[in-house]
Amino acid sequence: MVAVGGLAVEEIAARFGTPLYVIDRDELVGRMRAYRAAFGPEVTVTYAAKALCVTGVLALAAAEGLSVDVASGGELATALRARVPGARLVFHGNNKSDEELAAGVAAGVGRFMVDSFDELDRLAAVGRERDEPVDVVLRVAPGVEAETHAAIATGHDDVKFGFTLSAGLAHEAAARALAEPGLALHGVHCHIGSQISSLGGFTAAAALLVGLLADLRDRHGVTLGELNLGGGLGISQTADQVEVDLRAYARAVTGAVAAACAARDLDLPHISVEPGRSLVGPAGLTLYRIGTVKRIPGVRTYLSVDGGMSDNPRPALYGARYEFAAAGPAGGGRAGGGRAGGAPAGGTRMVSVAGKHCESGDVLAHEVALPADLGPGDLLAVAATGAYNHAMASNYNRVPRPAMVLVAGGEARLLVRRETLDDVLALDVPLD
Ligand code: LLP
Repeated sequence: MVAVGGLAVEEIAARFGTPLYVIDRDELVGRMRAYRAAFGPEVTVTYAAKALCVTGVLALAAAEGLSVDVASGGELATALRARVPGARLVFHGNNKSDEELAAGVAAGVGRFMVDSFDELDRLAAVGRERDEPVDVVLRVAPGVEAETHAAIATGHDDVKFGFTLSAGLAHEAAARALAEPGLALHGVHCHIGSQISSLGGFTAAAALLVGLLADLRDRHGVTLGELNLGGGLGISQTADQVEVDLRAYARAVTGAVAAACAARDLDLPHISVEPGRSLVGPAGLTLYRIGTVKRIPGVRTYLSVDGGMSDNPRPALYGARYEFAAAGPAGGGRAGGGRAGGAPAGGTRMVSVAGKHCESGDVLAHEVALPADLGPGDLLAVAATGAYNHAMASNYNRVPRPAMVLVAGGEARLLVRRETLDDVLALDVPLD
């Protein structure tokens, strides 16, 4: 039996339908606590809401004492609905609109992470107009190549985000911000990329940013007190991927900051980190039902499920791999239980798991071993889908987006209701 939060997934699927995102509350909250414990009370842990931006999840993050990073007006609205205090919000984005900036100011966002000279000017104007400086931190591209997929590396020079250190843009932005009465500059930030499992990039970036803080002190006589090192810690999605130990990560990052500060005789800044995936990814799983089976003799077998790239675009976008398990027979919750857990009577076979969308690239797994007798109606569970699945879901082929439930102590409750076809059609304006 595959169970989560004290409930058999068959039971959850029977009650809420499939496809379904399931969030394990104890795992989620446990990860939030583990982060705070690993870094200690001196470091601010800020949840990067983009990984899973749902009101209930942001409320849990706030209740656990985390700050929240929002990167759009929509994420900001979600955080406000979750009653995250404005002061605990940081607002990211390389192209925040005037409306988004105004919404952030109205919400009393704690820090605007300034990403460009244009934004710097706009926020300065806001600060001058209201006669109270806007609190900002500069996003810096430190020139560090993160070991990850190119689409999710952000620390190198040729990137749309932030002020590029090697090109002198970070120094220039800091000089402008310091001279600007409409801005209160508090520190610097970097985020080198996502799904990173080696620590070298994080420590190199930390040292470079401390160097920048020391340079700014030497040049301007101002010691900025805040250093935000972004998120990016990788998770394990398949058995062959090793998850970096959180304490080792915390030690490496804080140690690199301390060493670089000592080398430049700089007071220790207040450190923040901004994890997304490593907080929520492993806490989520997705349930699908198999609808059709196609056996191509001598080629392969496709099991097609009732979702696909609309609820998880990551295999198609980044070649991401996931662990799949048979989670129960057709008819969910029927006596006799699921197949997972023991060796299947009929043995296993290598199959591809495809989605229901109209393109060949809609394959969730290319080669996974699953029980040979799986067929229509059987339930499949996919692990570690909590991050960047729901957040990136679409209505491709007019497929309604799945519901999401939170499970703990044998109870399940809705976090997001299932989209209906009426929801999907609601925005169309008929011509007649
Ligand atoms: N801080 C900033 C400024 C970010 O841009 C991000 C992620 C994070 C923190 C959190 O990073 P994490 O700890 O989750 O790695 N859609 C891609 C991931 C994009 C990450 C975007 N920024 C994926 O599915 O892999």
